[in-house]
Amino acid sequence: MKVSIIGQGYVGLTISAFAAAEHEVVGFDNSQKVVDQLNKGISHIEGVESEVIAKWAKAGRYKATTNGADIKGSDIVVIAVPTPLTKDRQPDMSFIEAACKTIAENIDRPVLVINESTSFPGTVRTVIKPMIEKLSANKFDHMYAISPERVDPGRGDYNQKNTPRLYAGLTPAASAKTREFYASFCDQLVEVSSPEVAESAKLFENTFRQVNIALVNEFAQIAHKLGISVNEVLDAANTKPYGFMKFTPSAGVGGHCIPVDPTYLAHVATQLGTPSTFIERANEVNLEMPLYIVDRVEADNGGSLKGKSVLVVGVAYKPNVADVRETPAEIVIEELRRRGAVVAWHDDVVGSWQGENSSPLTGADISIVVTMHSVVKAADVLASAPYVFDTTGKVKGAKTL
Ligand SMILES: NC(=O)c1ccc[n+]([C@@H]2O[C@H](COP(=O)([O-])OP(=O)(O)OC[C@H]3O[C@@H](n4cnc5c(N)ncnc54)[C@H](O)[C@@H]3O)[C@@H](O)[C@H]2O)c1
Repeated sequence: MKVSIIGQGYVGLTISAFAAAEHEVVGFDNSQKVVDQLNKGISHIEGVESEVIAKWAKAGRYKATTNGADIKGSDIVVIAVPTPLTKDRQPDMSFIEAACKTIAENIDRPVLVINESTSFPGTVRTVIKPMIEKLSANKFDHMYAISPERVDPGRGDYNQKNTPRLYAGLTPAASAKTREFYASFCDQLVEVSSPEVAESAKLFENTFRQVNIALVNEFAQIAHKLGISVNEVLDAANTKPYGFMKFTPSAGVGGHCIPVDPTYLAHVATQLGTPSTFIERANEVNLEMPLYIVDRVEADNGGSLKGKSVLVVGVAYKPNVADVRETPAEIVIEELRRRGAVVAWHDDVVGSWQGENSSPLTGADISIVVTMHSVVKAADVLASAPYVFDTTGKVKGAKTL
């Protein structure tokens, strides 16, 4: 089959690499830079090896393109574009709309359109289908389905093959064809009764994480006031063999999923006139964490950070990826600078960010660990400053949350 995948980022490129083993894949992206790199066999995504992209490109099974006309002749089109929030924290559907336009303008026969982008329940039925139909003047009777992406970039144990995949079509024929496609590279497929169930399941998975992260972050603050170690309490609670799942405190949440997806769920709740108070409170707690950390560090250092050299260790939003989207390190750094500290950061996985480069892991008055990549040695972090505050619980001997 010819499969076109719109968006060649974390999700789209990961799918492309797996699907190309069985299908002819066209990776459409509107970034010329991304496309040029991919066609040179260079992957920009952790977990997708450059050799794999180069191998499929050489075998004629994979081609990246910015030319919408290249998706003509597809049997399946997968949408894998960003679904961020607008400035006023509402779902930003502009990327999905642009992808629908590309499909409507270029697809020349009935196809199966699958959405993998995370969005609110009803997106396939009430946004994607009507938009493609409108923009293509209803020329073709396409099939539509959702299969929400669950990829966790940087993770070794679960990947496209062994992570169960949810899916649902708008019609039984769409469901059957969606199953046939994913069965070619996924071990376990789980059909649900409607696209809205699949869309909601994806949002609930990430909301579950968001709320539990916020809960443990709030508890870390209570434990500190009690004068006990939050990590020791969590380890103790975790000895219960049932009914408890351990989440660990942190500098806050980052990435494209946890800070964003729950707000898509809150959006539909508001539209339906039902409260989503957990989501709102969890967002508040997680967003306040970077400031709480700066407060703690300031209090430990004589109540002022003015003129102190502070090294923020790890600016990616999670370990072992170069992804800095929505990273809590950004707020930590901004707040430190606002309070007069002289701030540098160390993260050789990220390398350069916001016009600054990773600094050496040494010579600071204060080090604050936001993210601990596995290439970083705890002993080096401890030696980098006389005072080290570790938000990750991975640097033994440092001050902790
Ligand atoms: N990254 C994850 O871990 C993850 C996991 C599960 C679900 N998701 C969801 O998957 C979707 C995609 O996320 P991502 O992390 O892959 O994003 P990304 O930013 O890594 O990649 C998106 C790509 O789409 C391209 N793009 C943007 N608009 C386009 C358009 N109109 N046409 C063609 N290409 C376009 C961008 O240039 C970029 O390369 C989002 O809805 C996200 O919430 C992401």
